[in-house]
Amino acid sequence: LNFELQAYLQERKRLIDQSLDQYLPAEDRLPPKLSKAVRYSVLAGGKRIRPILLLAAYEVWKDDYLRALPFACALEMVHAYSLIHDDLPAMDDDDFRRGKPTSHKAFGEAMAILAGDALQAEAFGLMARAGRESFTPQQSLAAIRELADGAGLNGMAAGQAMDMETQGRQFGSEELEFIHSRKTGALIRAAVKVGAILAGADEKSLRTFSEFGGRVGLAFQVADDVLDAVGGEKSGKAGGSDARKKKATYVGLFGLKQSQDRAKTLVSESIELIKEYGTRAEPLRQIARFLAEREY
Ligand code: IPE
Ligand code: IPE
Ligand code: MG
Ligand code: MG
Ligand code: MG
Repeated sequence: LNFELQAYLQERKRLIDQSLDQYLPAEDRLPPKLSKAVRYSVLAGGKRIRPILLLAAYEVWKDDYLRALPFACALEMVHAYSLIHDDLPAMDDDDFRRGKPTSHKAFGEAMAILAGDALQAEAFGLMARAGRESFTPQQSLAAIRELADGAGLNGMAAGQAMDMETQGRQFGSEELEFIHSRKTGALIRAAVKVGAILAGADEKSLRTFSEFGGRVGLAFQVADDVLDAVGGEKSGKAGGSDARKKKATYVGLFGLKQSQDRAKTLVSESIELIKEYGTRAEPLRQIARFLAEREY
């Protein structure tokens, strides 16, 4: 099969970066400090893996993926908000993100909190507008609900809360899976599901892709724990943050080797789940494999 993953990822990232730039406020929108903070964090780089997954899932059924682009950007805005808040002194207290000072380091805590708040609301506004233009009300609402669930009390926020609760204390593998499948898995699952929903996938496929996304999302966070532990330079974050904060991580519970194996197994399982979707699902499979073995 003639599919070049690196070129594909680069091309999609460029497309997403461009549209994010358009959807964000101008630098001088009042108050400029808030607009600057929002643009700073969203446009600072990042792999754009969630929007890329959303578009790749959409493409399993449909070719006109530009139609789904606003939803992909909205998802990246929610992700960017989650990173800004994750780095705050009250949470992980990190100084570097994507190779640059974190939002609160650059703009102060109040602006960082507000930039996150604004991004989350703007993301939902963007989806509502794009939904009205390009999709049926049913599809739009289902997609919006999916992202809300991924970010909310049964998704990212819940995982982040449990991540804070377990910090510095003993934890078991069930708690660990709760944390990882929610703080990171839920938004990645939502990425895949929103893509499938917008493309008009049937119920059975939605369940399959939900399962696929959940596994890939969990593997993604296991890989993130590994990268933090080995201090990978390319990540643009200060390594060793998890150990410093005594976080519940896969590496902490199972060690490096077993964590790497676990990520690979999860990805193999996820790929197996979507085997019947043929060559149209090949980008998704290759992205999944890349995410478990990534070095940044
Ligand atoms: C980092 O996410 C936070 C996690 C949920 C693990 P990414 O690794 O996707 O970060 P960026 O967007 O590429 O910077
Ligand atoms: C994922 O966990 C955080 C989010 C859901 C935003 P981490 O705290 O491990 O993410 P990094 O390592 O700071 O990017
Ligand atoms: Mg964290
Ligand atoms: Mg963190
Ligand atoms: Mg981490």
